[in-house]
Amino acid sequence: MKTLKNWAFGLCLCGTVGLLGTSLSACGAQGGNTGAVKADTVEADGGNAVIEAIMSRRSIRKYTDQPVEREKLETIVQCGINAPSGMNQQPWQVRVVDDADYINGLTDIYKKANPKAAEEEGFKNMFRNATAVIFIGSPKNGGGQFDCGLLGENMVLAAQSLGLGTCFLGGPVRFMLDNEECAPYVERLQFPEDYALLYAIAVGYPDESPEAKPRDAAKVKFVE
Ligand SMILES: Cc1cc2nc3c(=O)[nH]c(=O)nc-3n(C[C@H](O)[C@H](O)[C@H](O)COP(=O)(O)O)c2cc1C
Repeated sequence: MKTLKNWAFGLCLCGTVGLLGTSLSACGAQGGNTGAVKADTVEADGGNAVIEAIMSRRSIRKYTDQPVEREKLETIVQCGINAPSGMNQQPWQVRVVDDADYINGLTDIYKKANPKAAEEEGFKNMFRNATAVIFIGSPKNGGGQFDCGLLGENMVLAAQSLGLGTCFLGGPVRFMLDNEECAPYVERLQFPEDYALLYAIAVGYPDESPEAKPRDAAKVKFVE
């Protein structure tokens, strides 16, 4: 849990930096910070494609059955590994899974352990119903989690720009690590001995357009 928290901090920081950039332009245009960052629109962005991708990305938990093209998955991971990392150590391992047998096999184990969750309307699989999942591993010594967060944010933004939906997944990974029956699936990811599964990202063609969740602008201050 501590591990995930540390990583989440890294990711939040990354998101905040992006958000800071956008709220700066928004505040500048309006002549002041009104307290609530608009999470779904940015004023004065000048049609900037990166800002557009950041501000329109939402966690997607419903996907169509359309498989994601391998070329798109390759572009996404390419963008991921072009994230910055401390001393360019690239302390990550990335595994892309679009094999339905793998996803459904794990989901069968999940359904056995969580029969109620599996009865939820629209439930297709334990990865928020996505057709592809990207698994990220980080060094077992606890290093690299900040870098892995940056890698992930690059990937979800790249996916967004390609018309795909994504969702960061901590819960399903905890299940995979805690449930012994999942061990063969974790093994199939073939992480090096000194790496462990850290988190996953669901990827697929979105079948919903959720509203932006509110962001707390009070967490950002200029230090004069
Ligand atoms: C570290 C981390 C773990 C997450 N784990 C899950 C998860 O297990 N299941 C899920 O549905 N969403 C998960 N999310 C997605 C968050 O719920 C989501 O990012 C947050 O509610 C903000 O909504 P947005 O992504 O649509 O802006 C996770 C996000 C992060 C950063």
